[in-house]
Amino acid sequence: DTVEWESEDAERGGYDHYMLKEINEQPEALERTINGRITDDGRVALADFPPGTFDEVSEVHFLSCGTSHHASMYAQQLLRDRGVPAYAFTAGEYATTPAPVSEDTLVIAVTQSGETADTLASLRSANERGARTLTVTNVVGSTAAREADEALFIRAGPEIGVAATKTFTSQVAALLLVVERLTVDITGTPSEDSEAVLTALRELPDAVDRLIGSSIASSLAPRYAGSEQHFFIGRGVAYPVACEGALKLKEISYEQAEGFSAGELKHGPLALVTPETPIVAVFTGKHDTKTLNNVEEVRSRGASVIGVAPESADHVAAAVDEFLPIPDTNPDVAGVLANVQLQLVSYHVANVLNRSIDKPRNLAKSVTVE
Ligand code: G6P
Repeated sequence: DTVEWESEDAERGGYDHYMLKEINEQPEALERTINGRITDDGRVALADFPPGTFDEVSEVHFLSCGTSHHASMYAQQLLRDRGVPAYAFTAGEYATTPAPVSEDTLVIAVTQSGETADTLASLRSANERGARTLTVTNVVGSTAAREADEALFIRAGPEIGVAATKTFTSQVAALLLVVERLTVDITGTPSEDSEAVLTALRELPDAVDRLIGSSIASSLAPRYAGSEQHFFIGRGVAYPVACEGALKLKEISYEQAEGFSAGELKHGPLALVTPETPIVAVFTGKHDTKTLNNVEEVRSRGASVIGVAPESADHVAAAVDEFLPIPDTNPDVAGVLANVQLQLVSYHVANVLNRSIDKPRNLAKSVTVE
């Protein structure tokens, strides 16, 4: 009835959907995620994890599902870049086929809700086998927070839309802090880019705000909604961002979408590329030349390419059909901005198709069965 509708509307803060509200809340959410966790002289300061906390760790396993798995993959790429062995596993697989661990293995369960059954099952398996466990979660008092040895809260605030948006960006921001702390503790020195990364992280809330204010995703959406299929490609951290872009699009618009590592495209998926296959290519300023070669491969098959890249990347803008710029920043942080751009693309495509954006069919916010 009317009263209910009005209060629903108020809760959505004037936005048509929780998803759009939550996309717009990202600058504040990110402020909270990093608040007090970066010192003025540019070092990581995590209250529960002072320098040296992770001295003994020899390798890192990430356990997670869905969008959280993409945040884990993002952190995995960054740790490997910094010389730390890291492996992101989907929790459902790890629960049945766990990787060997020792007491020097740090197992990080990344879960927004802290209640996903597969993630909890794999966390328990790691606990039982003697690994050191940490959860990165949004929910204080969640099962994951209680069962893991240690917890780091992302402080994104409640998320109502089934499709994860602000919790993904806050997960990646929190994991960036963990990555820099682990790198110092395990390798003995901060990463080469540590200062630049932490500065970029501090500037991230403002950059997200500018991006949301200037995005042209809504004008692009009507042209691509209803295509036969959509491919998303990227390398390095742009690879999980591509996977997340595809997941978001399929979840809320029901469009056929797949994300690939750009290099894998020619090992099969290329057979499906036609002029009816828009390809979203994600660029961060690292590994761009190789991804541009893949862009050429698909454009020569008649596909349109939408490039998401830092605004100063003129060489990308010149090589694609549509250019969706993101503010210039450090490449390790750029993936977060590219993700926000892709959230907006998915949202507007789903909106054009008049989908049930906040409650997509068959999906649940938190999946508590294995
Ligand atoms: C469900 C949700 C996804 C989420 C996944 C993992 O499938 O629909 O949006 O990414 O669970 O949830 P978690 O709470 O563990 O991050």
